[in-house]
Amino acid sequence: LFAGPVDFLKGVVAMEGLPPDDRPEVCFAGRSNVGKSSLINALTGRKALARASNTPGRTQEINYFLLGDSGYLVDLPGYGFANAPLPVVEKWQRLLKHYLSGRASLRRAFVLIDARHGIKAVDEEIMTLLDRSAVTFQAVLTKIDKIRDSERDTVLTQVRDRLSRHPAAYPEIVLTSSEKGEGIATLRAIIAGLP
Ligand code: GTP
Ligand code: MG
Repeated sequence: LFAGPVDFLKGVVAMEGLPPDDRPEVCFAGRSNVGKSSLINALTGRKALARASNTPGRTQEINYFLLGDSGYLVDLPGYGFANAPLPVVEKWQRLLKHYLSGRASLRRAFVLIDARHGIKAVDEEIMTLLDRSAVTFQAVLTKIDKIRDSERDTVLTQVRDRLSRHPAAYPEIVLTSSEKGEGIATLRAIIAGLP
């Protein structure tokens, strides 16, 4: 799946702009600044394919990346705080929710959680939306390089406990660091193994 060329396809600002749903896709959702775009770069081995930055609200469109001929990786705008005007943020939040509840070709949503912070109220809101839409989602802990080994169990316990209340949650949690490469091969294999 990741062997072929990976390319940016398009940035989408409204549901009408989505490409035809004739290929499987996976998306990366999560609070602003959690590391969605960085994770796409790490997965594809392309340093600047998706635009990442320290400013929350960097990604403001639904960005489609083509994986050879086989499918799409979808980078989503973040939810929660964003450094952008409110009407703009509200517009992309509506698009995000619409996308997450109504995309037939979406095989799995990866919900990214900052390992330092665990699951927050805004994450719960998105996970509940995914439950209602019957979209299988999987939690990915990001920035695992920023916590001590001894702190892993604490965050994993919180996340596991919260996930157990969500019928659409896939039980396996993936621990990743886009910076150090931890968990990237594992996540790549999970995506490659999806039907
Ligand atoms: P929005 O598009 O604004 O919603 O953000 P995003 O979720 O796409 O986050 P992005 O990938 O832009 O990363 C935000 C910041 O976190 C950047 O400064 C990244 O360099 C940093 N970052 C991302 N992943 C990691 C990681 O695994 N480890 C560390 N230490 N920093 C990371
Ligand atoms: Mg981004």
